[in-house]
Amino acid sequence: MINQGPVITIDGPSGAGKGTVSQLIAEKLGWHILDSGALYRLLSLAVSHHGMSVDDTETLKVLAEHLDIQFEQSEDGKIDIVLEGEIVTQAIRTEEVGNNASKLAAIPEVREGLLLRQRAFSQLPGLVADGRDMGTVVFPAAQIKVFLTASAEERARRRSSQLEQKGESVDFDALVKTIKERDERDANRTIAPLVPAAGALVIDSTDLTIEQVVEMIFAETVKAGLA
Ligand code: DC
Repeated sequence: MINQGPVITIDGPSGAGKGTVSQLIAEKLGWHILDSGALYRLLSLAVSHHGMSVDDTETLKVLAEHLDIQFEQSEDGKIDIVLEGEIVTQAIRTEEVGNNASKLAAIPEVREGLLLRQRAFSQLPGLVADGRDMGTVVFPAAQIKVFLTASAEERARRRSSQLEQKGESVDFDALVKTIKERDERDANRTIAPLVPAAGALVIDSTDLTIEQVVEMIFAETVKAGLA
């Protein structure tokens, strides 16, 4: 079998810090990164752009397999996310796109359609994969599995400060409610529910800084002889 390099999976609910932590670990190791949530968000945006029905699951599967998506390095070193030729890096981050992504993510055909695309990100020298089922379904043989979580209130605080920085007004209680509903849907769906993989290092980031979380994961990487 071709050596596709080691994989670190970082799963957990949204707002736990997975995105930032994954990016910092990937930079530290010089590895590739997979933001699998972005794929579900891109699909959600494409479905609304094309006015598609979410009931036609076979067509959704084909769309998931073939959707024109690019992750391009921009001049300032950041990644531009491109859907069908249009930069949608910001557009996929709205609450509406996220909630619709969570609904699409409960459809088995959608998950099947995205499976091989996600595995294709595993390349040398290594991959940091961020999502909900990275350690359980997509990369079950990953060398290091992390489940990163935080209380719903703390995640709502982090999300509301992000939204306020963007000048958006925030109803904090409504945000906590939406986050809990989304957790419930992601954890209780029948296919690939959000649960820690067997043997995962569970980190509760409620009272930890990003740097502390990165150090904990990096220490595991050193222990495993990967860094
Ligand atoms: O991580 P995120 O908030 O960008 O993800 C958006 C939605 O996509 C999330 O509510 C659940 C779904 N998702 C998933 O089911 N499996 C993944 N590996 C990643 C995301």
